[in-house]
Formats: sequence, structure tokens, C-alpha cells
Amino acid sequence: MKESLLVTGGTGYIGSHTVVELITAGYDVEILDNLYNSKIEVLDQIEQLTGVKPKFYEVDLRDSEALANVFAGKKYDAVMHFAGLKAVSESTKKPLKYYENNLGGTFNLLRCMKDYSVKKLIFSSSATVYGDQPSPFNETLPTGEKISSPYGRAKYMIEEILKDLCASDLGFSVAILRYFNPAGAHPSGLIGEDPNDKPNNLMPIIMKVATGEFPELLVYGDDYNTPDGSCIRDYLHVVDLARGHLAALKHIQPGWTAYNLGSGEGTSVFDMITAFEQASGKKLPYKVVERRAGDLAAFYADSTKAQTELDWQTEFDINDIMRDTLNYLDHQNG
Ligand code: NAD
Ligand code: WQD
Repeated sequence: MKESLLVTGGTGYIGSHTVVELITAGYDVEILDNLYNSKIEVLDQIEQLTGVKPKFYEVDLRDSEALANVFAGKKYDAVMHFAGLKAVSESTKKPLKYYENNLGGTFNLLRCMKDYSVKKLIFSSSATVYGDQPSPFNETLPTGEKISSPYGRAKYMIEEILKDLCASDLGFSVAILRYFNPAGAHPSGLIGEDPNDKPNNLMPIIMKVATGEFPELLVYGDDYNTPDGSCIRDYLHVVDLARGHLAALKHIQPGWTAYNLGSGEGTSVFDMITAFEQASGKKLPYKVVERRAGDLAAFYADSTKAQTELDWQTEFDINDIMRDTLNYLDHQNG
């Protein structure tokens, strides 16, 4: 019997890439999403890539009745929970929207999992839970201090709620995956990051500059204490990240465990501009502006735990990320 999975947020950026890897590996996958930040057409791309069009529920996680109906219809072995709002700066302006959606949706999901005895969960967390500490981050560091946004605090709160759940019910197995900076697209060019709103993250913004939709990239500060003065991040290819979810599912243990998923490599904003120029053969117009409030000078992962316990490590580098993102852009623009 195939193991069956419910993937919340499965039409979104990271969810859709993970669904492709799951189906390819032989899992029976169903997707739940309210399409707030993704498009139904993604299901066709998934079918093109895997030969399978997963069953889809257009359901909002906050709708407890509709959610219970989904769980009543099928006995899932596990849930991968990607669904949530992710615009960090918006969360500082509309904290209630973020807490209501991201915490409220997760409560409903956990209640259904408990009611229907589905006790394996892989949760999309974020390196943001480490707050402002020196890198590299490893999982033994404290979390929850100096988190700069309601978005990040909600991730931390959910991690803690899941700890309580696991302590109260020893039947639960929860893997917390703390992503660093996901980027890139499927090498086929069929799926990638296609947000419904104006993008906030560096890679989608670079692509908007590349297509001429934005006149230039604003580099937020060149006076940080880093080798070239710009901020350093740990960008990881979305296909590597998707495969990290498979590894977590394969190795999940009873109780609560957190893993960093990052490449361990620090890349600066200027390195990203150079990588773009090399991959595209084009110059990227940019202008250095003031620092962005809340940005840390550097953060990157120590992913040793995922390497040793999940047998996972990144295979793609920043040049692959640029190549695949540009390829996705070409596909989108026909
Ligand atoms: P995404 O916006 O592309 O995907 C999230 C999906 O969740 C969307 O399709 C959206 O429509 C859906 N959704 C949101 N609220 C919902 C609700 N109430 N009910 C049902 N569906 C809902 O984002 P992504 O980049 O794929 O991120 C997936 C997860 O990973 C999120 O939880 C995000 O916080 C987390 N994460 C993302 C990053 C990143 O940089 N992309 C980094 C760390 C963690
Ligand atoms: C990357 C670097 C900017 C835009 C955020 C969340 C984090 C996680 C990933 C969800 C920074 C610089 C950016 C621009 C720039 N998400 N930059 N000009 O802030 O590292 O992380 O997304 O969990 O929680 O905080 O990502 O892509 O916004 O920025 O110079 O127009 O690019 O200063 O150094 P960030 P980002």
C-alpha cells in the first residue's frame, strides 16, 4: 500500500516542488490550499511532471468544518504543513491577519489530526526562529528571542505548541524543518515561485528587474560587517529543500525534532548579482540604498544534524539556482 499524505499549501512554491518529489517517490498525495497565494494551474504542471494529477481540495484551513470533511474522506498516514502567509513585512503591519491565519489554521489542522488519528507531521518552520544570534545556527541554539516579526513569532509559537502536543501524546511524530532562504525553480522550468502579490524576497525581485518590470534592484546596505559590506544569507535550491521533506518523512521519529535545512554556504547580495550576471550574460541594474529595518548582517545554517540524521544535503549551488530561475522565467514568458 502506498503511504498517503495530505499536503497543505501544496499548490504554493515549496509545496508544489515537494509534491512532485513525493509523487515521483511513490507516495499517494492529496493537496489542500485556499489558493490565496497560488494558482490552480499548478496541478496541471504537477501532472506534466509526474503523470499524476493529485486530488485537490480548495479549502481554507480556518474553515474547521470543511477541513474535517477532508479528514473524514481519507485515512492519511502523514501531513506536510506548508500553508500559511509568508510576507514578513506585511506581518509587521497586519499582525492579527498573520496570527489568525497561521496560528488559527494550524490549530484546526492539529485538532483534525488528533480527531482522525493522523500522527505524523512535517512542519515548515523558518530560520527566523533563531532571532538575532551569530551564525552558523545549529539546532541547540535557543529560539524565540529577538525575532523581528509577527510572522517569525508565529513560527516560533507553532513550534512550541507542537512540543506541547508531542509531550501530551506520545503517539505524535513531528519534524520541524527550519528553512533558510529557499530559491530557484524546478529544472524543467514548469514550476517555480509565482506569487499572486508583489514579491518581497531577493530572488523574485531580481527576476522582476531582469524582465524590466522593476527598473533596478535596491541593495539594502553595503556597510555591514561582511566581506563586501552587503548582507549574507544561505540560499538553498527549492528542489533540495523539497527532497529534505522526503528525507524527514522517511526518518521521522516519535516526539518533536527540529532540523535546519540550508546549504551551509553564505552568499552576499553582491554575490547574487554576480551569479545572475554570469547565468544570464546580462548586467543587472542596481542601486545601494539604506539598510532595511530588521535585516541581520549574516545568517547561514549548520545543517550537520540533517546530514547525519536524515541523510540529506544540498546538491545544487547558487549558479544552479540562477540557471533554473531564469529557465522558469523563459517558460513563463513563452
Ligand atoms: P507560498 O505562499 O507559495 O505557499 C503557501 C500556500 O499556502 C499558498 O499556496 C497559499 O495559498 C496557501 N495558504 C495560505 N493560507 C492558507 C489557509 N489559511 N488555508 C489554506 N491554504 C493557505 O509560500 P512558500 O514559499 O511555498 O512557503 C511555504 C511554507 O514555508 C510557509 O509556511 C512559509 O512560511 C514557509 N517558509 C517559507 C520560506 C520562503 O522563503 N519561501 C522560508 C521559510 C519558511
Ligand atoms: C535576502 C537579502 C536583504 C530584497 C526572509 C524572511 C525569512 C525567510 C526567508 C520565511 C537580505 C537583501 C532583499 C531587495 C536586497 N522567510 N535584499 N534588496 O530577509 O533573508 O529572509 O525570507 O520564513 O524568515 O525574513 O530574505 O529575500 O527578503 O532578503 O538587498 O530588494 O537580500 O537585505 O540581505 P530574508 P530576502
